[in-house]
Amino acid sequence: MAHQWRGVIREYADRLPVTEATKVITLGEGGTPLVHAQKLSELTGSEVYLKVEGMNPTGSFKDRGMTMAMTAAVEAGAKAVVCASTGNTSASAAAYATAAGLKCAVLVPEGKISMGKLSQAIAHGATLLQVDGNFDNCLDIARKLGEAYPVFLVNSVNPARIQGQKTGAFEVVDSLGDAPDIHVLPVGNAGNISAYWKGYKEYSAPFETANGTLPAVSTKTPIMWGFQAAGAAPFVAGHPITEPDTIATAIRIGNPASWDTAVAARDESGGLIEAVTDDEILAAHRWLSAKEGVFVEPGSAAGVAGLIKKHAAGDVPSGKTIVITVTGHGLKDPQWALRTEDGSDVQPVKVPNDVVTVAAELGLEEN
Ligand code: F0G
Repeated sequence: MAHQWRGVIREYADRLPVTEATKVITLGEGGTPLVHAQKLSELTGSEVYLKVEGMNPTGSFKDRGMTMAMTAAVEAGAKAVVCASTGNTSASAAAYATAAGLKCAVLVPEGKISMGKLSQAIAHGATLLQVDGNFDNCLDIARKLGEAYPVFLVNSVNPARIQGQKTGAFEVVDSLGDAPDIHVLPVGNAGNISAYWKGYKEYSAPFETANGTLPAVSTKTPIMWGFQAAGAAPFVAGHPITEPDTIATAIRIGNPASWDTAVAARDESGGLIEAVTDDEILAAHRWLSAKEGVFVEPGSAAGVAGLIKKHAAGDVPSGKTIVITVTGHGLKDPQWALRTEDGSDVQPVKVPNDVVTVAAELGLEEN
């Protein structure tokens, strides 16, 4: 019998803060493909895999945390949830709030979220407010609403989110049979790098549960490599940035909420957090779609851009196993695929309704 994936809470219930009695809010998130990246493997001489998080129900990794946050909201008796977002969190919150029967309010920076994400939040019936400010300003307001008003905060400052997101690391280990040597990912608000590190640490040691101790699953933890957009790279600067700017709107964040845990992930793993330029991000975005067959949004390509950059500098070891989380689907923000390297728009060739002309245009000669 084929096994139907039950969502991350039921699949990993013994490692999450839930009980048999918990009413689980799920859309079947997780269980995403770990795709062998043939060209990146050839380039680096290591085995490179992509954890394709665009395959989650709302098209990004946020669903792993949102199933936990929305389950916690229902458990707490909340009637309404709120979040700040660069787009994906709002899309996910709106969908999971619908599944939970809760009202949802989302705060997004005006003009700086992609059409796909905006339309998801609206389609799922969230109240969407465009704030005259950036993501960091939105998060400030969302936190204050959560503290002083009857709304439940579902940003990753809520620990339930990180608990759900750590399952990404579990799935990688379950697929590979052990942890990779290096795990690469984009860094914005820094929840995901914190969550993966938590997941890898928990899987590499005995784990205490209410029903006894689970044995370690992996023999090691990976080195964590995080990459930020150069115009929004507070970890590289060593302090918050007041005017973050990048075409990768998903990671246009100057004051990451999970600062300390991200620094711990970097330092405890012997890893790094560095920056990649918007041009490097777009080149990696093209590489993924044109060479690997995987379509991601620009922010999601930052990890791949980082790996390519480190390889060019001679800093990527060969013969290792490397996993890169590509965080969101390309259809979230498809306009970038229609742009050529020189910045002009791709114009599809128009042809008449006629096979001979179509064949000629394709350079085909009749058999
Ligand atoms: N990639 C994508 C596609 C994202 O949407 C985000 C964050 C990140 C990477 C960075 O992850 O914040 O855990 O370091 N998006 C948030 C949002 C901020 O509101 O959707 P992080």
